[in-house]
Amino acid sequence: MDTIGATCLLPGERALACPQENRPPLLDSSELGQECLKQFEVTRSQLQQIQVSLLGCMERALKGKADSAPAVRMLPTYVGSVPHGTEKGDFLVLELGATGASLRVLWVTLTGTEGYKVEPRSQEFVIPQDVVVGAGQQLFDFAAHCLSEFLDAQPVGNQPLQLGFSFSFPCHQTSLDRSTLISWTKGFKCSGVEGQDVVQLLRDAIQRKGTYNIDVVAVVNDTVGTMMGCELGAGPCEVGLIVDTGTNACYMEEARHVAALDEDRGRTCVSVEWGSFSDDGALAPVLTTFDHVLDQGSLNPGAQRFEKMIGGLYLGELVRLVLAHLAQHGALFGGHTSPALLSPGSLLLEHVAEMEDPCNGAAHTHTVLQGLGVSPDASDAELVQRVCAAVCSRAARLCAAALAAVLARLQHSREQRALQVAVATGGQVFERHPRFHNILKETVMHLAPECEVSFIPSVDGGGRGVAMVTAVAARLAAHRQLLEETLAPFQLNHEQLGAVQAQMREAMVRGLRGEASSLRMLPTYVRATPDGSERGDFLALDLGGTNFRVLVVHVTEGGVQITNQVYSIPEGVAQGSGQQLFDHIVDCIVDFQQRQGLSGQSLPLGFTFSFPCKQLGLDQGILLNWTKGFNASDCEGQDVVCLLREAIRRRQAVELNVVAIVNDTVGTMMSCGYEDPRCEMGLIVGTGTNACYMEELRNVTSVAGDSGHMCINMEWGAFGDDGSLGLLSTCFDAIVDQASINPGKQRFEKMISGMYLGEIVRHILLHLTSCGVLFRGRQAQCLQTKDIFKTKFLSEIESDSLALRQVRAILEDLGLLLTSDDALMVREVCQAVSRRAARLCGAGVAAVVEKIRENRGLEVLTVSVGVDGTLYKMHPHFSSLVATTVRELAPRCAVSFLQSEDGSGKGAALVTAVACRLAQTAQV
Ligand code: BG6
Ligand code: GLC
Ligand code: GLC
Repeated sequence: MDTIGATCLLPGERALACPQENRPPLLDSSELGQECLKQFEVTRSQLQQIQVSLLGCMERALKGKADSAPAVRMLPTYVGSVPHGTEKGDFLVLELGATGASLRVLWVTLTGTEGYKVEPRSQEFVIPQDVVVGAGQQLFDFAAHCLSEFLDAQPVGNQPLQLGFSFSFPCHQTSLDRSTLISWTKGFKCSGVEGQDVVQLLRDAIQRKGTYNIDVVAVVNDTVGTMMGCELGAGPCEVGLIVDTGTNACYMEEARHVAALDEDRGRTCVSVEWGSFSDDGALAPVLTTFDHVLDQGSLNPGAQRFEKMIGGLYLGELVRLVLAHLAQHGALFGGHTSPALLSPGSLLLEHVAEMEDPCNGAAHTHTVLQGLGVSPDASDAELVQRVCAAVCSRAARLCAAALAAVLARLQHSREQRALQVAVATGGQVFERHPRFHNILKETVMHLAPECEVSFIPSVDGGGRGVAMVTAVAARLAAHRQLLEETLAPFQLNHEQLGAVQAQMREAMVRGLRGEASSLRMLPTYVRATPDGSERGDFLALDLGGTNFRVLVVHVTEGGVQITNQVYSIPEGVAQGSGQQLFDHIVDCIVDFQQRQGLSGQSLPLGFTFSFPCKQLGLDQGILLNWTKGFNASDCEGQDVVCLLREAIRRRQAVELNVVAIVNDTVGTMMSCGYEDPRCEMGLIVGTGTNACYMEELRNVTSVAGDSGHMCINMEWGAFGDDGSLGLLSTCFDAIVDQASINPGKQRFEKMISGMYLGEIVRHILLHLTSCGVLFRGRQAQCLQTKDIFKTKFLSEIESDSLALRQVRAILEDLGLLLTSDDALMVREVCQAVSRRAARLCGAGVAAVVEKIRENRGLEVLTVSVGVDGTLYKMHPHFSSLVATTVRELAPRCAVSFLQSEDGSGKGAALVTAVACRLAQTAQV
């Protein structure tokens, strides 16, 4: 506080001390008393104005619109629900900042049973004044010291302890255990703490002390502790009101109204921080000259003006200022003052409460005043008591106006005309000052007549509530740990990816040499990418991706025009008999020809067939095995072109000239190669995954010839089928593999491609539910259904532009009942699974481009990769993760990725065109 002189000289009085100026007429002593008392009167309309103005400030702050003057802050507290009463366990609670310069440590046992309560053990410590205004580290070290001292007397041993930190200052919270101090209030002013996470500061101090194993799991404001600890009455308690050293309230707001949160459901507790309310229009008429002096002498002049009229730290001081003023002007104590009376901080809230005591107030007043070194007569004592009453009534009435604003806000947000609400109250002003409570209650009744408010005093200063929040936070932290443990195997580091790249490279070499390898490295008989001289009209089929397509492709000098039609292949056909499948394909072709007016024409046909085929020429492909969702009988080991020709023959009416069979990777490479001659690799990440690239013919053992190139269909989906990916495979991969139609096969594909990622996610979600981490441990029926979690959900859920509420809507459409925390965790699961997929894919690409570079003996290779597939194209981050991984693992290759726009049917037509051109040339 300021100097003694200044505390007694009110702003309006400066003129009195100045002989040159006109002096206002001096009041007589009783008039002066009346005049001072009058200053503390607040009319009903002034209260209403405060209520309305505060409500306006609250609503603007909720919407995220900052007022020019610091108004109320409306800080989200990350407490989402009032207690269930089922919270259990032993918790340590540290309270700092609620009551004066003291610190309280409590040991709270929650039994999980309503009605049964274990009294908390607690100890209070006085914080030395030099610590209150000293360095931040000193304050937190003091707190850690008090914790240790308290625990030394408890039978706790070395067990890990969970601590809830009640920190009663305005903080920006970003989670239950992260909270940045905005500014000190009340009597605190430690350096280096504002702008810092107070949880971290406390954790650091506990670590420095090093005596106990304490984890700080939650931080709460005192209002929140009070609300959460409220004994459950008829209904839940949804407002917490503190009038202690300072004053503040919290309440349960509809989450959708809190702009700072991305949440549309449920309620969330908001700390109003009304102490900083400072609308001049509403407050100026009730501010007295004493308030100004008090403010100027405080540690935070200009701030917390509302709090300084209500909080217990200030009431005694306000009374003292009035008494000193009256004494100096002869209206009290015969005009005598005393050094104590003129000393800031000499009159405390407890003295005021004693003087106002309805039974022994008069006697107490004499004692208190004598303690201050002044000698009151009977009329002095009476006036002093009236001053106390005026200061405290004003505080109670102002507090009531603020509470009425909160109640009005609750009414608005609940859209209820009549509101029944329980308010948990706490703080020494309530405890020590029965009149305060009564006036507050009465005034609230007048200001909010349509609200039925029950006030429930907090029993143990909010310690139980803090423990409850801590219990919830501890549960969330345990869940987070389980989530992280579950997802850890999906996070592949540089070394692991490098090992995948190296293994892939070895498998490529062995496959090319015809040695045992999980990579078949199939020659495709495509020897060159298009040169632009191709011309003609072609039919194309595209079978094996999400859609079956029939196309007509016109290749002209001006470019390529495509007309295509998508047909479905019902699952029964894909997994029925081979004859049925190929008859269905021919039916679709016939339909297409009729629609396009192509019936009767025998156009050369290119067949994109996206399964592993052993080719002996361009128009011969023996299906080695089905992959993805296909399993038609009697096809494996057969030449697919023959199967198609037989079906054409069965159908008699059509004539088709099948010229080439190409894998989709090859079709994609050719299609992109038409635009970019540097395109020497094709990549598919869709239903399945695979790659092809241009290899030196001399390296391809099974094809004669030493010069030139040949496109190799790697069939990398099968990479790891020899067990080499075993270390990377998680239990979820094993489950998905076992439940597939080809267990043990396509292990790389099953970690990467669209057909499987949703299933991996679904199994992780089932596991997390069974651990109680998700969906409150309740297994949802819908999640039991195979393939319900489509890979397209991953793409949607991981989209950056999607708000959490939209993520939740997607999951709710599936039939899942979930909270926002659940939605966040599901998003993390999706991210982990798709990230691993993209990074593995990147390791594969790195192996291929490095091989091309080394084949050519280049220092640096510049190459393009043609890519197709729904996962690659639709997922928001997949493509960039692949590119980053390739840069990381193949730094000497400059790789550009070209997305195929027209599908691989165009590529198949181009392969056909090249073949026709070569055939014509040969004939000539
Ligand atoms: C298409 C190609 O665009 O992508 C197909 O034309 C290919 O040949 C497919 O199989 C791969 O993606 P998806 O997601 O359909 O399996
Ligand atoms: C001050 C603090 C606030 C606290 C209140 C009551 O206003 O800023 O956080 O709740 O005092 O202790
Ligand atoms: C599967 C097929 C492969 C195809 C890939 C992408 O892995 O076996 O031939 O290229 O899916 O569709």
